[in-house]
Amino acid sequence: MSHQDTQSILAGKTYFIRTFGCQMNLHDSERVSGLLDSLGCFLAADPADADIVIFMTCCVREAADQRLYGQCSSCKSLPVPPSGKRVIAVGGCIAQRDGERLLSHIDNVDVIFGTQAIAHVDELLAQAFEDDERHIDTAEGDLPAATTLPWHREQPFHAWVPIMTGCNNFCTYCIVPYVRGREKSRPFDAIVDEVAGLVRCGVREVTLLGQNVNSYGRDVHGEPRFAELLRAVGETGIERIRFTSSHPKDLSLQTIETMAEVPAVMPHLQLAVQSGSSRILKLMNRRYSREDYLRLVDAVRERIPGIALTTDIIVGFPGETEEDFEQTLSLAEEVGYAQAFTFIYSRREGTPAAKIEDSTPREVIQERFDRLVKAIEGTAYAFNQHELGQRVPVLVEGASKKDARILQGKSPKNQTVHAPIPEGASLDMYVGHIVDVDVDVARTWYLSGTVAGDPR
Ligand code: SAM
Ligand code: SF4
Ligand code: F3S
Repeated sequence: MSHQDTQSILAGKTYFIRTFGCQMNLHDSERVSGLLDSLGCFLAADPADADIVIFMTCCVREAADQRLYGQCSSCKSLPVPPSGKRVIAVGGCIAQRDGERLLSHIDNVDVIFGTQAIAHVDELLAQAFEDDERHIDTAEGDLPAATTLPWHREQPFHAWVPIMTGCNNFCTYCIVPYVRGREKSRPFDAIVDEVAGLVRCGVREVTLLGQNVNSYGRDVHGEPRFAELLRAVGETGIERIRFTSSHPKDLSLQTIETMAEVPAVMPHLQLAVQSGSSRILKLMNRRYSREDYLRLVDAVRERIPGIALTTDIIVGFPGETEEDFEQTLSLAEEVGYAQAFTFIYSRREGTPAAKIEDSTPREVIQERFDRLVKAIEGTAYAFNQHELGQRVPVLVEGASKKDARILQGKSPKNQTVHAPIPEGASLDMYVGHIVDVDVDVARTWYLSGTVAGDPR
């Protein structure tokens, strides 16, 4: 189908897009939205008002599959849209993993597009409006094609910037390498030029994205170039740089040094530990020990005092004993995480860990999980206490969900900060700007205080 045909079929159609999973998917959704906007489509706030309903899916844990089937099925009861036909599309990681097999669970899906097919989603949707066939594309695709698509950003002042896709690490519990393919780095200059362009458009903060940003460039140059990239991005004039995720085995001293030296790199590091037990880390194929991880934390803290360390932790990996779990608990307390994303292990068919038998009762795993969550609440609370009495520059994102008169934004350490909008001022004067806040309350998951000075 020609571009012109695609455009004439899709122009004026409304679309709804729901995204699950990680920032990679969030960014892919922004590209799909951007592509559809450029063809004259309009974003709808509700599936009931949409000619096109798109689910961007995640399969990192099991619950997501059932949720997707439920959501697709509930589309059947929606009223027919004004155009007379609703096209349902499933993209992202479940689409990539299952392809045509998805049809055995969902009978009302028209388009299935994999993680490397987002540049063609417009053609697949247009074809689906023209006939009653299923259109499926889960082929390995071209990374640059997707990164040159137009872009519909949720927030004008922040941008997700993928620097690489895929993963080579094959942690034994994880499905991601099977659905996102091997590591592919974007060209260095393309990333730097993109950030420079974003700065010109008024973007204040970028988050560089990859499953393991520390190995950026290895596929092209034979060795990582992440530290160089951070430095070059820092020279574009962007005010805040964040990145995620960092694999501890690849975080180099050069990168730590660069983080310390480049003022725009925020003092926050997401460094997934997964477990505090060296025995479990080995079974997970993480390729570092508890001692290696703690040494790395010391090196980071020595060079960047006060940095916020956050992490991902899995509880209940097959064969995890009480002793292994206690090692995780003690590591979390020793590191003093500012935040942690905690997950109960979810068996993923096709991964090596799925073959490991485990007889640990569900209640025992749940009880360990609850203890870990409590421990993290303690470390997060303690971390935030250091901010009491400090003046913190906050990038304002909007109003607090609970109170429209309260600003909400992020500190350099990625803490959520609240402050009442000053007398006589309005929210619009602050959103997308940086403002100082004098912190006088520090809770587990947020700080609050008073605005000091003007937004900038
Ligand atoms: N590449 C990132 C890293 O290594 O830090 C993580 C990406 S993964 C999408 C996000 C998190 O999901 C992982 O860090 C891990 O804690 C969790 N995860 C992955 N597979 C899982 C599984 N089978 N069960 C439970 N949690 C899992
Ligand atoms: Fe999954 Fe490990 Fe790759 Fe992260 S590094 S995406 S946890 S395989
Ligand atoms: Fe999920 Fe795919 Fe991300 S499996 S966590 S959306 S890479």
